[in-house]
Amino acid sequence: MKNYLSPSILSADFAHLGEDIRHAQNAGAQYLHYDVMDGLFVPSISFGMPVLRSVRKITDMVLDVHLMIEKPERYIDEFADCGADIITIHYEACGDLKGTLQRIRDRGIKAGVTIKPNTPNQVLADVLDQVDMILLMTVEPGFGGQSYIPSSTAKIQELRRMLEERGLQTDIEVDGGIKKDNLQMVLDAGANVIVAGSAIFAGDIEQNVRDFRKVMEA
Ligand code: DX5
Ligand code: ZN
Repeated sequence: MKNYLSPSILSADFAHLGEDIRHAQNAGAQYLHYDVMDGLFVPSISFGMPVLRSVRKITDMVLDVHLMIEKPERYIDEFADCGADIITIHYEACGDLKGTLQRIRDRGIKAGVTIKPNTPNQVLADVLDQVDMILLMTVEPGFGGQSYIPSSTAKIQELRRMLEERGLQTDIEVDGGIKKDNLQMVLDAGANVIVAGSAIFAGDIEQNVRDFRKVMEA
């Protein structure tokens, strides 16, 4: 499977957001991870539609929108209109999971589903063939810069097995606490879309992306 790096702009410098994104793109990151937080599903509030619209204008990277919001079904059309290429919704936040995933696909973009660290993979059994990507949260959603939860590794392996048993080659994305030193481990476990925020946007962005890509393309 092909691996993709999805730098999370939650850790970018918003006074220079365009510049930070260009650095990530120049160094070869293919996706851009966009964390939307509503202060209800998670304690914090981040950014929403207007910023996404501006980001869409300056990049052709794949815009990977992670909705950490209650009742995401209310906002699918808005985020699609603003230029999302992938919309990922939380199992725990959505009243009509199947219907909402279908609405995302009906907009001609990719549909993702995500679960928090304490939610078992098995809750997704019914929707595995209805999604383009499954995002496993490897920290409690809400903030950048947290430490990877070690039990996530077994969860990635189990999910990859569940997909293989059904003959599916669905992308598995991991999000939270991914650094250069645990990257190989999550790839070996079966993840192929890698979110990294603080590990990419602190220090030399282009060098950080190149360091990640070296491991991901080996
Ligand atoms: C956390 C967000 C993440 C966050 C990851 O709720 O979903 O995307 O930006 O940040 P790091 O890589 O710093 O853990
Ligand atoms: Zn995220």
